[in-house]
Amino acid sequence: MKLRYFGLCLLWCAAAVAQAQNQKMDAYVTKLMKKMTLEEKIGQLNLVTPGGATLTGAVVSEGVDAKIRNGAVGGIFGIYGPADVRKAQEIAVKNSRLHIPLLFGLDVIHGHKTIVPIPLGLSCSWDTTLIERTARMAATEATADGLQWAFSPMVDISRDPRWGRISEGSGEDPFLGSKIAKAMVRGYQGTDLTNDHTLMACVKHFALYGAAEAGRDYNTVDMSRIKMYQYYLPPYKAAIDAGVGSIMSSFNEIDGVPATANQWLLTDLLRDQWGFDGLVVTDYTGINEMIAHGLGDLQEVSARALAAGVDMDMVGEGFLTTLQQSLKEGKITEQQIDAACRKVLEMKYKLGLFDDPYRYFDTKRPGREILTAEHRALAREAAAHSMVLLKNEDQLLPLKKSGTVALIGPLASDQKNMLGTWNIAGDWKEAVSIEQGIKDVAGDVTIRYAKGANITSDTMLLKRLAAFRDLVDVDPRSAEEMRREAVATARQADVVVAVLGEAQEMSGEAASRSEIGIPEVQRELLRELVATGKPVVLVVMSGRPLTLTWEDEHVPAIVEAWFGGTEVGHAVADVLFGDYNPSGKLTATFPRNVGQIPIYYNHKNTGRPFGGDPLTKFQSRYLDVSNEPLYPFGYGLSYTTFEYGDVKLSNTNPSGTTSVTATVTVRNTGKYAGEETVQLYLSDPVASVTRAVKELIGFQKVQLQPGQSKEVTFTLTPEHLKFYNSDLAYVWEPGAFGIHIGGNSRDVKSATLNWSK
Ligand code: BGC
Repeated sequence: MKLRYFGLCLLWCAAAVAQAQNQKMDAYVTKLMKKMTLEEKIGQLNLVTPGGATLTGAVVSEGVDAKIRNGAVGGIFGIYGPADVRKAQEIAVKNSRLHIPLLFGLDVIHGHKTIVPIPLGLSCSWDTTLIERTARMAATEATADGLQWAFSPMVDISRDPRWGRISEGSGEDPFLGSKIAKAMVRGYQGTDLTNDHTLMACVKHFALYGAAEAGRDYNTVDMSRIKMYQYYLPPYKAAIDAGVGSIMSSFNEIDGVPATANQWLLTDLLRDQWGFDGLVVTDYTGINEMIAHGLGDLQEVSARALAAGVDMDMVGEGFLTTLQQSLKEGKITEQQIDAACRKVLEMKYKLGLFDDPYRYFDTKRPGREILTAEHRALAREAAAHSMVLLKNEDQLLPLKKSGTVALIGPLASDQKNMLGTWNIAGDWKEAVSIEQGIKDVAGDVTIRYAKGANITSDTMLLKRLAAFRDLVDVDPRSAEEMRREAVATARQADVVVAVLGEAQEMSGEAASRSEIGIPEVQRELLRELVATGKPVVLVVMSGRPLTLTWEDEHVPAIVEAWFGGTEVGHAVADVLFGDYNPSGKLTATFPRNVGQIPIYYNHKNTGRPFGGDPLTKFQSRYLDVSNEPLYPFGYGLSYTTFEYGDVKLSNTNPSGTTSVTATVTVRNTGKYAGEETVQLYLSDPVASVTRAVKELIGFQKVQLQPGQSKEVTFTLTPEHLKFYNSDLAYVWEPGAFGIHIGGNSRDVKSATLNWSK
């Protein structure tokens, strides 16, 4: 009783302190805004990226210095390093009329300079504590480099591996995606934004950006509300519930109106229903692009963006150049400008910039806090935990730390493509190649290296890849000559490790692909390596699920390594030689071919589900490929094996708001200690709307020694049964439910219960 009273007092005190702080902030901002001219208020809404900055889009801001002096800039992104950032800050603080500090942001997506795996890879760890630690590390490094704002986490759900940006998110599942979104916000923001080691996060891209038609970047999105609410919106909402400071509107349209002018999205849903009180920023030239979307000229689209709820205009300067005119013409109100300006100033206040605009510019910090041994160790751990063992016939892996390994492939000794897309401040020279990693981890192994193939023989593709960053080294020899050398190398070895896949720039923004296999010239190499009869281990690097159907049939061992970041070489070697027993589980379904896309585990049953007999007509199936994916969501092997017992329910006829436990015994039946992610899925076979065949509602990670078993228990309440109905009400309906527990979304043990109201 006493304890509870004490707890309530604490809560009350925290709420009172927060309220007092808010009042202080309101008073400060109100006083400042009273001094501001209309031009200065509009200036705060302008986010620029100057020439010389690290560019992430096609347009550069001009005359930035002069604009800062005139109070026409609220924030800058694309520059980093305390000395450089300080210069820009000094112009604002010393030379602008009201001395308002600038805000400095950057795309800190999967690490700042110590790069961890691409987010899709990281999500395969299903380890939210690890992910939070990586975000905390990124915040430490980015703030040491003068930044206060990260354009992350990217939480767009995607069911389409053709879309290059699937690499930047956490895959296809809203439940896991929401957990990861929260972990990242906590990691970046900590509990105190004024702390000089935390930064403001920005959840993006709001909303539904991952559902671009045909997986082509920036393409149209069209989706029912029920699908949005059930599958696509939860991770954004989770980030908001975790207190994210800012949100970025997406490029795509929603219900026929681009997100950046979508009042329903940015005001009704975001502010009114979800209670978001942070800052809304557009994506890169998101306002200007609405001209091409067909909404009108720059003045029109800028006015619409402001009215819809945008606070800050990234790069396009539509606000800067047209809002005054729109105000004169009555298209917008001064209150709307004030509201947006207030949000920007509040953000600066929350970050402590008015107290000390130079607080993030300690020039000694980068040397002390960036790319430290500790950060590299975390990057290595994260990379190893991200890798997914897709196949391991006859326990080919782990390899012995002796004998001769033929290390083959364009990515086997490469450093330039290891960090993955959207590493803006990362330096590839810091990356550990796979070859180096193996040398460091398995020093007694004799390595014979041959490149074997270029990443691609498509010269037009090479040019396109180089348009952003030129990272692909092309060997001038013919494909035949390179293969011949590789095959000869393979013949002299005990085992072949082929490191194949995509170049870094083959995924990420504006990097959609219509064929998502390993490029043909590398596949040809792989065929010849397999034909040597030597055991082949395929290490795949990719920013998306690939179609590995041929590989799965012919190659005995396959490890999906994604783009593992700075320490990838060590982590791959840790996995190949068994210093780390892989535990990653896929968070995006691997299709058999492109025609199956979109393919995802939480699909509907349809009225004519495929019954298993391929000769039956009039069922939902293809003539030329199975309905099943190559590797399902949640799938991933280990060097050991896990056996699941039956699902035991504490009550099969619960009623009302009680709770029920679901327990399974998981046993390590193999020879290695290992980690298993035990996944809990729900099915709801009868409801007022059609439900997915299965939805993830929980997971737990367990460590098991050989022979050891553990009981894993999940507690279920009616909250777990909820879904959005036709009125978009979040409800549960009484009746039968399937409870499914297993090591992936396909292979599960099931039990049924009947939950009454
Ligand atoms: C991307 C965003 C990114 C922004 C700033 C845009 O092109 O869509 O994810 O944060 O550029 O670099």
